[in-house]
Amino acid sequence: MSETVVPVDTTSRSYQVVVGSGILDTLGQRLAEACPCDAVFVVSDSNVAPLYLERVLSSLQQANLKTASTVVAAGETHKTIETYASILAAMAEAQLSRDSVVVALGGGVVGDMAGFAAATYMRGIRVVQVPTTLLAMVDSSVGGKTAIDLACGKNLVGAFLQPSLVLADVTCLSTLTPEVFADGMGEVVKHAVLASPQLFETLRQRPLAQDADPAYLVQVVSQNVAIKRDVVNADEQERGARQTLNLGHTIGHAIEAGDGYLQGHGHCVAAGLCCMARAAEHKGWAKSGLAARIESCTKAQGLPTTTSLDPNTLYSQATHDKKRHGQTMNIVVPTDIGAVELRTVTLDELRSLIESSLSGTEES
Ligand SMILES: NC(=O)c1ccc[n+]([C@@H]2O[C@H](COP(=O)([O-])OP(=O)(O)OC[C@H]3O[C@@H](n4cnc5c(N)ncnc54)[C@H](O)[C@@H]3O)[C@@H](O)[C@H]2O)c1
Ligand SMILES: [Zn+2]
Repeated sequence: MSETVVPVDTTSRSYQVVVGSGILDTLGQRLAEACPCDAVFVVSDSNVAPLYLERVLSSLQQANLKTASTVVAAGETHKTIETYASILAAMAEAQLSRDSVVVALGGGVVGDMAGFAAATYMRGIRVVQVPTTLLAMVDSSVGGKTAIDLACGKNLVGAFLQPSLVLADVTCLSTLTPEVFADGMGEVVKHAVLASPQLFETLRQRPLAQDADPAYLVQVVSQNVAIKRDVVNADEQERGARQTLNLGHTIGHAIEAGDGYLQGHGHCVAAGLCCMARAAEHKGWAKSGLAARIESCTKAQGLPTTTSLDPNTLYSQATHDKKRHGQTMNIVVPTDIGAVELRTVTLDELRSLIESSLSGTEES
């Protein structure tokens, strides 16, 4: 059993992210130590529950914890007020108190909804994240953001709630579809470009496969957790540095929406990252050759490096982005591997960046 513990200190809470292989059955004991409680309520979804819920419940029971659970329909389309309300009702039915703990067992959708239910039930109880997708392990379970969608937009209602413990068992990744695994890789490549030339080089030489050696999966996941932790720590309430986590997302979101959400988020982020790198290089903001390096790493992971959408579609989708401020937008520009800068651009500048992002750089 290989494992790495990444400690996270925030102003509201200090907790551990335990990343390991074959550690799911240790959840009960670790939870009992990290957050003594009167009951544990597990929230999972209809894909994850048949695979892992029994194991999680029996681990909790073996640690003498009182348990209850609810299973919601899987998928982003169910990250709604209705599902959130059904989780709260099930929590009340199970007579959870302020001393109880919610466990989110699933991908980012379950993590966000169970986290938001915990953040609001009785004005806030504790949550433990047990992420089962790569994206949830490297991204959504760390940082304390929780949210649900409204009909008119994603993640419009939410709260900050730092988890009391995160337990990521990389053996859970083996049951993901290849598309969902690759989606997580989009954020992994983003993290590497954002903060770690060493991780970038590792991935370029040895692309991370779903059936990789568990020790390698643990290494990559825990490095990603540390990168996200460091960015979030620098800026817990998202006023400055945390915006850098949006690297690849301005054009990525535009591709996602322009394509009618047919491609997964991480695929679009990867393409958006390559687009922004090309645009930055054309502008002379990035080191020459950067776009080609990012493209080669992205390609090696089986992720797209561009889009067939036209610049007008991308521009109109990008300017619907919630990160827009009046006539300007904040964008995150890669300048080298491990270096980015925040820039405020006018909408005209954004249009020209998008146009240039679709054509290759000299080196590519
Ligand atoms: N809170 C944050 O900071 C944050 C950050 C990034 C993304 N998010 C949110 O995360 C969500 C996306 O997360 P996601 O990509 O994990 O999607 P997801 O939770 O929908 O999981 C993807 C699919 O995989 C299934 N699944 C999960 N684990 C599995 C496993 N081990 N084996 C087999 N199937 C499994 C799920 O049932 C689902 O069908 C979005 O709603 C996004 O807004 C939140
Ligand atoms: Zn993302």
